[in-house]
Amino acid sequence: MSEVIYADEFVQLFLGDYRDADLSQMDATAIITDPPYGETSLEWDRWPTGWLDDACSIAPALWSFGSMRMFLEHGKEFTDAGYRFAQDLIWEKHNGSGLAADRFRRVHEIATHWYHGEWADVKHTTPTTADGSPRVVRRRESKGEHQGSRGASSYVSEDGGPRLMRSVIKVRSEHGRAVHPTQKPVGIVAPLIEYSTERGDLVVDLFGGSGTTAVAARALGRRCVIFEAREDYALAAAKRLAQQTFDLEGLSA
Ligand SMILES: C[S@@+](CC[C@H](N)C(=O)[O-])C[C@H]1O[C@@H](n2cnc3c(N)ncnc32)[C@H](O)[C@@H]1O
Repeated sequence: MSEVIYADEFVQLFLGDYRDADLSQMDATAIITDPPYGETSLEWDRWPTGWLDDACSIAPALWSFGSMRMFLEHGKEFTDAGYRFAQDLIWEKHNGSGLAADRFRRVHEIATHWYHGEWADVKHTTPTTADGSPRVVRRRESKGEHQGSRGASSYVSEDGGPRLMRSVIKVRSEHGRAVHPTQKPVGIVAPLIEYSTERGDLVVDLFGGSGTTAVAARALGRRCVIFEAREDYALAAAKRLAQQTFDLEGLSA
């Protein structure tokens, strides 16, 4: 049975397998998670068969971290569960995590965004940034299946912004300070949460690890329920949540 081992105004952290919890009453806006990819010999790194059906029943949107190998192997499970593909992001790390010595040093991971229902009904906030160089921004009319119809428009961006954020996001990895072997930095999880949810919304992470999703969600004023099956990682997540202020940590590359 899973049990709550940490709770505050925003976060509930369960120690235990998420499949032992009653998820039927959860009214989540998005699942932001980083499942075991099933690529290493680590004891916990086993692909959790069936998790996509569970995820699909909890929230209309899902961001899942993963590798190209993982998505090639399991991609059909996403669509079989009822998800449609929305977009992908690249997390560029400052150092590599390649598993082979005779291939390019892998310094990136992928996050994929999935949804079910109508795209127009799926919460998302246009992700903008400013880069300092003025220019005229022109947008052509389009009738994309997923984007919906859009009329032609243009505007002068005098102060260098806003621009659409790039889909490659550079954030330092947690190498050397992580409490989990595959810990994601808050700086790569936060934009996904900001994009897909609003303040007060509920974010769920089925594979919580060291609690990164909860740290980011709380700092952004979102509620968060996370699960972690291993006691050592769950306790590390609880300690991290208890020790930290409600601010974002390590956002810069
Ligand atoms: C890739 S790691 C997540 C790391 C996390 N993103 C972080 O920043 O620390 C996946 C985690 O899922 C946990 N896990 C695997 N199967 C699970 C299940 N059925 N229920 C809950 N946790 C599970 C593993 O123990 C592992 O810690």
